[in-house]
Amino acid sequence: MNYLPEVLKILEGALRSNAEQAVNYARLLVEKLEQEGEHQQARLIQRKLDTLPSALVPLSGGQFGTVPIDHESRLGLAHEEHVPVDEPNVLLDEHLRDEVQRFLADVLHMDRLFAAGIQAWPRMLIFGPPGVGKTQLARFIAAQLGLPLLTARCDSLISSFLGSTAKNIRYLFDHASQRPCVLFLDEFDALAKARDDAQELGELKRVVVGLLQNMDALPPQTIVVAATNHEQLLDPAVWRRFNYRLQIHLPPPALRFALLQSYLGRFAAPDLSLVRAVELTAGLSGGLIRQAVEDCIRQAVLANEPAVSEGTLLTRIAHSVLSAQKREPTREEITKLLLEKSVPLRVIAAGTGASMRQLLKQGKNRTSHKKQKGKANGQTGESGSRR
Ligand SMILES: Nc1ncnc2c1ncn2[C@@H]1O[C@H](COP(=O)(O)OP(=O)(O)O)[C@@H](O)[C@H]1O
Ligand SMILES: [Mg+2]
Repeated sequence: MNYLPEVLKILEGALRSNAEQAVNYARLLVEKLEQEGEHQQARLIQRKLDTLPSALVPLSGGQFGTVPIDHESRLGLAHEEHVPVDEPNVLLDEHLRDEVQRFLADVLHMDRLFAAGIQAWPRMLIFGPPGVGKTQLARFIAAQLGLPLLTARCDSLISSFLGSTAKNIRYLFDHASQRPCVLFLDEFDALAKARDDAQELGELKRVVVGLLQNMDALPPQTIVVAATNHEQLLDPAVWRRFNYRLQIHLPPPALRFALLQSYLGRFAAPDLSLVRAVELTAGLSGGLIRQAVEDCIRQAVLANEPAVSEGTLLTRIAHSVLSAQKREPTREEITKLLLEKSVPLRVIAAGTGASMRQLLKQGKNRTSHKKQKGKANGQTGESGSRR
């Protein structure tokens, strides 16, 4: 009987730090030896396997080597990917960029730090409003470290049977500890809700305790990055587990400029000024800016145009700004916003398809309306609109 294929796979697993693979093939080898009547050799290997740290014991039910699933919904508890190093482009302001570089250096030099007596593994919590690039940053970190990214959406770990939630967490953390990786806990607040939240059941509080214990038991090669839009819901004990806490705000003007430029790429006409677009995107997340720009590019490509015009860009951004406040805005509302922002009529006309006559009329109505309002305010002694 030839055992070489198993031995080679075990060796390969060991050389690539893929304990999962090594253990899996060692089990196969035990089975083969048993079948061949080589009971003593099989027992020797089995004894070695029995002394494995618990983190390497295969997950009950799930196929070893595959991402574990929630037994109720049959959905995977995590998603695993290898992010190409040149793919995620994350634009951050200087202070955050420095923090990320410090984090990466900490991870890469963990051995030296550990030898110097520093025992806190680098762990990062990213928080901020939706669409500011938290997920993108986690992808960037995994790509920079050259590690697989294991993303778990924490809300999907929560089972309607709370006992299963604790199990799901254990399966996930067991899986994540099998080889070096970045474990990205997205929508982290779903799991890490404040333990003293009066509405929560005692059971869910136990889930949080379990989560913390699982986190503490992870090997240093499992790099934990978590993200949340609701940092105020996090338990102080959870905060303490993270020595890097990055708050990402909605992008300031310089970053909005960089985002617009980066998303437009070669579709930015050489004479396209982004000054008004930067002003108009105030309050929009990078995600919404990206959507707006990509819509414009789609429009340009389908119309066989080589570049995105300022009118199209501003109209699409105005649409985003207004739909963030309410449902689908009308063309009149979009035009009104652009007029308020003193965008030249010809640019508005090009973007919205409105005629100059309509725009002049709408502009005039607006000015006379403003004047009347100004007068009315003057009579009541108010110094202008406060809204
Ligand atoms: N600062 C940023 N740099 C690069 N891309 C960004 C940035 N902010 C948002 N994006 C883009 O917007 C989209 C949504 O970002 P995402 O990371 O999913 O946001 P979040 O996780 O904070 O909700 C992604 O396609 C991402 O590329
Ligand atoms: Mg996200």
